[in-house]
Amino acid sequence: TGCGSSGSEGGGGGGGDDAIVMGFSQVGAESGWRTANTKSVQSAAEKSKITLRFSDAQQKQENQIKAIRSFVQQKVDIIAFSPVVESGWDTVLKEAQNAKIPVILTDRAVDSKDTTLYKTFLGSDFVEEGKKAGQWLVEEYKDAKDTVNIVELQGTTGSAPANDRKAGFAEVIGADPKFKIVASQTGDFTRAKGKEVMEAFLKSTPDIDVLYAHNDDMGLGAIEAIEGAGKVPGKDIKIITVDAVKDGMQALADGKINFIVECSPLLGPQLMDLAQKVLKGENIPARVVTEETTFDQEQAKAALPTREY
Ligand code: AHR
Repeated sequence: TGCGSSGSEGGGGGGGDDAIVMGFSQVGAESGWRTANTKSVQSAAEKSKITLRFSDAQQKQENQIKAIRSFVQQKVDIIAFSPVVESGWDTVLKEAQNAKIPVILTDRAVDSKDTTLYKTFLGSDFVEEGKKAGQWLVEEYKDAKDTVNIVELQGTTGSAPANDRKAGFAEVIGADPKFKIVASQTGDFTRAKGKEVMEAFLKSTPDIDVLYAHNDDMGLGAIEAIEGAGKVPGKDIKIITVDAVKDGMQALADGKINFIVECSPLLGPQLMDLAQKVLKGENIPARVVTEETTFDQEQAKAALPTREY
């Protein structure tokens, strides 16, 4: 296995001749989802005896580019990363390719035209997640005659999940003109930003029927803002989020959120498996889509006791 760097100064990983060294550039620690994802990657690496060089980019593309360059210099065997935004990766990915270090995309995609720059992309279908959110809304309001005013908390600007969850949702609700997105802004996938932006929405937009938040954390921040404004989350304003982390599921079971589309952060085991296969020269699919479901309030109550994250 490996690319012949084992045993050399920076590349061997200290785990014997065959130990794989993986450089992993994580987006940051912006959400409960991300924390669960980091844990999954770290514990799967340990189980697979893969030496993980972990780097946290604090939601900044420049940090990820630096980390990838440093992995190339260290001659790691393989690089995996979760790109904070979709565009602007071609140069650094070319550098890895020239150094013959394979790259796996995990969780988020890049928009590079040259798909030989990475071996595979493991992660969710974010467009599908947005569609599921929209489908629930259409069903929930199927008998409503009046306009349904929706506010949207978008994820990190330029990120694949923000772009795709927005697009999938808009496509589904767009079939019926009674659904109106009256305000849409980024909350950067964080609780603090979700709260701040929701406070502004509540001031600027008098009749909000529905909040669609691109992740649980922003939804949870928004719940604080809604309660602070004297309104009842889940009743006065219906809330749809994405992820299904424990805190989100608790709020769903408590009636403060109405529907959650699951996005699984448990990508570690599949990532390590794919890395081993790539380094053995085995064929792997160009796209590996994560399996996920959705939860309403009753389903959340049933799932909570055994929820892992
Ligand atoms: O890329 C996955 C998204 O990133 C999650 O839905 C969100 O919580 C995280 O920050």
